[in-house]
Amino acid sequence: MAQIGVVICSCGGQISEKIDLNKLEEVAKGLKDVVKIIRTDFLCTEDIEKLRSLADCDRILFAACSERSSLTFNEDRIAAILEEIGINRAMYEVANIREQCAWIHDGDVTGKAIDMLKMTHVKLLMNKPAEEVEVRKKALVVGGGVAGMQAAIDLAREGVEAVLVEKKPYIGGHTCQIPLLFQCESWPSMCTSECIIPVLAREVMNSGARVFTNSEVVDIWKENGNFVARIRKAPQYVDPSRCISCGKCSEVCPVDVENSFDCGMSKRKAIDKEFKLAIPDIYNIVEECTKCGECVEACPTNAINLDAEEEIIEEVFGTVIISTGFKSFDLRRLEELNYTHPRVISSMEMERIIARKMNIDGEKPEHVVFVLCSGSRAEEGEEGVPYCSKTCCAITVKQANRVMVLSPETEITVIYNNDVRAYERAFEKFYRNAQNAVDFVNGRVEEIDEENGMLKIIIETPDGDEEEIEADLVVLAEAVLPEGVELLEKLKVRTDRFGFPIEFQPRILRPTESHVDRVYVAGSVSGPKIVQEAVEQGATAALRAKQSVGIKKLPKFVSKVDQDLCSACRICEAACPHGAIDVKDFAYVDPAFCQGCGLCMAACPSNAIQLVNFEDEQIIRQAEVGFEHADGPKILALLCYWCSYAAADLMGRNGIKIPPNVRTIRIRCSSSINSNLIAELLKRVDGILIAGCPPKNCHHLWGNYMMAKRVGLMNPVMAALGAPNAVRWEYIGVTNWAELGKVLNEMDKYLREVRT
Ligand code: FES
Repeated sequence: MAQIGVVICSCGGQISEKIDLNKLEEVAKGLKDVVKIIRTDFLCTEDIEKLRSLADCDRILFAACSERSSLTFNEDRIAAILEEIGINRAMYEVANIREQCAWIHDGDVTGKAIDMLKMTHVKLLMNKPAEEVEVRKKALVVGGGVAGMQAAIDLAREGVEAVLVEKKPYIGGHTCQIPLLFQCESWPSMCTSECIIPVLAREVMNSGARVFTNSEVVDIWKENGNFVARIRKAPQYVDPSRCISCGKCSEVCPVDVENSFDCGMSKRKAIDKEFKLAIPDIYNIVEECTKCGECVEACPTNAINLDAEEEIIEEVFGTVIISTGFKSFDLRRLEELNYTHPRVISSMEMERIIARKMNIDGEKPEHVVFVLCSGSRAEEGEEGVPYCSKTCCAITVKQANRVMVLSPETEITVIYNNDVRAYERAFEKFYRNAQNAVDFVNGRVEEIDEENGMLKIIIETPDGDEEEIEADLVVLAEAVLPEGVELLEKLKVRTDRFGFPIEFQPRILRPTESHVDRVYVAGSVSGPKIVQEAVEQGATAALRAKQSVGIKKLPKFVSKVDQDLCSACRICEAACPHGAIDVKDFAYVDPAFCQGCGLCMAACPSNAIQLVNFEDEQIIRQAEVGFEHADGPKILALLCYWCSYAAADLMGRNGIKIPPNVRTIRIRCSSSINSNLIAELLKRVDGILIAGCPPKNCHHLWGNYMMAKRVGLMNPVMAALGAPNAVRWEYIGVTNWAELGKVLNEMDKYLREVRT
């Protein structure tokens, strides 16, 4: 037998002026398993001491204001208070008799409040306690660019064991290739990567984080609430504990190979370092090595072992930060830009030319032409990506400024088709400075070709005229794409069509969080960024990751599979936006990753999945007991947890009135309601409104679209059964409270008409 405590709040008269709370208390006394009732006037601000008298109870029913909208009486605070007085945080429910009863009707609404009390009571009777799991206090950071480095530093310093995996032999990522970096707020001062990277790298090394260079995560999966990663470490031919970085090995090495760090513009030895300040400060061997053994002979510390083999390491992590950075758009796809010509280069290649003080084969170029938006902001049907790559305008203007300094005689032209975007304070200064010496030309490049030893660039101006520009170097400011998409897929992180991970909604508040619990994204993998922004994201992700490990309190709502009913059809796995479901002999929902959206439950054709504390039976029972005092058609509004329910709370605050025969239930994602449940509910009510977040705003990615489709498919069937328009779907965002009121009034009017 349950022990229910009931708390009734008058809200300083705001509730009691419309609802007879003595009557409500009388009804509460008669409800099954209610053992104690307390009255309060200001539940939200009163000391929790009053609630301590309910410590003997095992669940609490609040008849008060909205737990969704109150700043002080909200779900997090309630859960914290319950835990403090020894009651499981899932064992409460709220009858929202202020926003959705007292405030949205005229006159006495005691009858409706009694119905709401009963609805809440029947649900609470079936609630189950929320559980806890232990999440490993260990973080995997994949990608050793500036974002990953910052994340590893912050995690390790905060006491979280951090492992940084980088596929290159050095950390620092693309930033190492860029000699001069912007400082957003202090131009013309610029930082050199040769200063910044060693500072950051030293911090990584001193932080206690373990760093695996020349390594990659070849597989990763979820297991018992954690992540298991398989990491492949390339053969460690040079022992880092012995290498003193003297370079004697490289001096004797007979094999020259292209240095990818220098975009192929210089050679390195098969045993070498990509650049002098590479960290870790050790030599590495590339696969072109012939294993002649000269280096072994030359090494004074016996650090080289040419028989070393790769290692596969398997480790368990509680959280993962993906900071795999970006890759350049394949410029060869833009045939008109002639990227295969040796004097047509990318922005990154230009950085390496700047690194050699603008010397190309011993000479400085006479005329450099930069082409903005090379592959970015492509229109329908064009090669390229439709988005702005954000950093390329600023990089181009920075490079133009560098050319002005390093080669004052060089003529500089920037061709922009769209516009020049200088989105930071410092970039605007760069831009203005460049305007003194750079010719900015508006036009679309039609063709780049060589003529008489010079490059001829043909552009079409906005007026439709053709112009020709001659140059001896063309720099294409290339679009960028995310790197490491395969890993995101392995983690079941949803991405957009270009591979950028989709952050958790609302993404403006959770910028580094993916839809998979405890998987964070930082740096350019989630969109083009300058170094400063990447570092900021690394720090943010580390903080969030740190908060996510240790004892994890599972949500109140978690999906559970009835294995006897499951047919392992995998539909739930595809429907889950959070990567929480794996299907082998049957579906298994890992509760440590489940976000309790209910999409799997509604999608399951075998009815094998139920959402704990939001089971079909709980909703059906609420519909059964909720309309005793309804005068008129029974209208049930099933409102999504996030947006639509908040809109309902705002109706009253904004003076909207709805018919008192409407009952609301705060459901999970709108798509947690399946057709069978709707059919069951229609046996008990006359009309159902299902409302979810606006398009692109569902907190579970596609839940609202699924539900819109489901209702769309159901309605013709309902019409054939003689109940047209009994079910209505609406996208209702938080600010659409007026629209919600209008819809409910329309439904009431319509149902009254068809009932007479
Ligand atoms: Fe609102 Fe999905 S969370 S519709």
